[in-house]
Amino acid sequence: MASISLNEIFEHILNYPDIDAQERFNRLMGLDDKKNSLSKLLGAMINPLGVKNWINKYYPNATNVLETILRRPPLIVLSGDVGSGKTELAETIGDLVARQEKIEITLLPLSLSTRGQGRVGEMTQLISAAFDYTIEEAKKLKSSSDKNRGGIILLIDEADALAQSRESNQMHHEDKAGVNAFIRGIDRIASSKVPVVVIMCTNRLDAIDPAIRRRSADIIKFERPNEEQRKYVLELNLKPLGFSDQQIDELVEATGPKNKDSIGYSFSDITQRLLPAIIFESYPSRSINTSDAINIAKRIIPTPQFKDGA
Ligand SMILES: Nc1ncnc2c1ncn2[C@@H]1O[C@H](COP(=O)(O)OP(=O)(O)OP(=O)(O)O)[C@@H](O)[C@H]1O
Ligand SMILES: [Mg+2]
Repeated sequence: MASISLNEIFEHILNYPDIDAQERFNRLMGLDDKKNSLSKLLGAMINPLGVKNWINKYYPNATNVLETILRRPPLIVLSGDVGSGKTELAETIGDLVARQEKIEITLLPLSLSTRGQGRVGEMTQLISAAFDYTIEEAKKLKSSSDKNRGGIILLIDEADALAQSRESNQMHHEDKAGVNAFIRGIDRIASSKVPVVVIMCTNRLDAIDPAIRRRSADIIKFERPNEEQRKYVLELNLKPLGFSDQQIDELVEATGPKNKDSIGYSFSDITQRLLPAIIFESYPSRSINTSDAINIAKRIIPTPQFKDGA
């Protein structure tokens, strides 16, 4: 097997803390619960010393529960609807964790959508190479006594082929081999106890392979913004442009589902389509006419939901 170079495996390696990641993270709205639980999980996995110290302080005899907590599988799955902030969150959460734990964290991002679709066996080879490299790097960060010198987040984005159950009839032989390589990689990280967490992003919420399910410390589900979240995003952006409370409410309604069988705007429909459309309707010759905005919102068709499996 020809060896693959680092540039071929990972897209853009990032080191945290990183001010740009912090800004992107702060721009993600309505995800506070997810930000909170994900950062705690990552913090405990990359820097187990924090959890150890906490247990020792309050419950010095609770060694069993400590072991249970620290032995959690090194995988977190972010799954759910398109444009809901999975990739953004996965690419920026490392900054918060690095600051909280006062530790350097490296992001190694592997995207399967743009790669591994060529020669047979390429996806499997890529996944194996990614795990090999990650584990070697992480061994250098491991500290036997106390605090790890750093941590690694291995991000496997666009992992739909991997999330899909191997039991599915439609699953190609090559994809099954890819899933197996992935599961082997997770197990190798767990058994070598290196400071690595794997984050996998996928749209295939309902089809996640049972072996992957079993190996995930958490499966965090992302959904379209509800009324409250849409209101929050719209207010934050449009209040300073002179929109009244009533106009915001009209926009909240216009960006919601038209009836109980339809869907409303995704987060990215609001931030990447609606808001620019409102601005560019008036730019550069005049100021914004708020009633135009509501018509624009009614005109835009929400991105269709990702259809699972079938
Ligand atoms: N919660 C949010 N708050 C603000 N903007 C958001 C939010 N979620 C998504 N966005 C915007 O939508 C864009 C797309 O988000 P992202 O790439 O993270 O989606 P995703 O969940 O990974 O979607 P896909 O499943 O299609 O890969 C982001 O660049 C961001 O601008
Ligand atoms: Mg994504």
